Amino acid sequence: MSPVSVAIDGPAGAGKSTVAKLVAERLKFLYIDTGAMYRAVAYLCVKENVDCSDTSAVDKLVKEHEFRFEEGRDLGLLVYVDDQDVSAYLRSPDVSERVSLVAALPEVRSRLTQWQRAFAKTHSVVMDGRDIGTVVLPDATVKVFLTANVEERARRRQQEYHERGFDVSLGEIIESMTQRDKLDSERELAPLTSAPDAVHIDSTGKAIDVVVDEIMRLVERAH
Ligand code: C5P
Repeated sequence: MSPVSVAIDGPAGAGKSTVAKLVAERLKFLYIDTGAMYRAVAYLCVKENVDCSDTSAVDKLVKEHEFRFEEGRDLGLLVYVDDQDVSAYLRSPDVSERVSLVAALPEVRSRLTQWQRAFAKTHSVVMDGRDIGTVVLPDATVKVFLTANVEERARRRQQEYHERGFDVSLGEIIESMTQRDKLDSERELAPLTSAPDAVHIDSTGKAIDVVVDEIMRLVERAH
């Protein structure tokens, strides 16, 4: 049987990764956090002091380093750069601020899209991101576009930062999230947008399990 794929796209902080992980766990599919891949490139730019919008410098960096992705014990994606596990550094405010710049670069997108498609060829996957249903897996078995209002998304992100030891004000988070969504939606290549055949789910005020159940029903109906 050919692998099944569940694509979950949407703006920052909509709850995609939490929901996608739980759906993957229930289905025993591989969870692929494509944002972590873009974050790995942004992390490397921060570490090596490279301007994230400098196309040739970022391309060079990506070519010179070896990236590896593996499923972690808590189902999160483990990201290795040159055999060093950098997963713990990918969600810092520094990386979040710059990631949309590297994600707009054609070479970076084409490389990461190839890796993502390779995972989906050999495994049944739940993949979350911005362009999964539109570009990476246009034939995905189920496509979901997950949203929530900006205040709720910012509160969730603030809690996530807090758990990682970063205290950032709600105002700052709303500003940087809005800016990131704007860059992601307005870029030329693979912008953040819903596939025409995606099912829209608004998670504002909904318990995680309710959203997970909704997606499970879509998967059951589809295959
Ligand atoms: O999902 P997460 O917030 O970790 O994504 C970080 C950033 O990576 C997004 O804001 C976007 O710029 C980029 N991204 C993307 N395409 C994807 C996944 C993430 O451009 N499929």
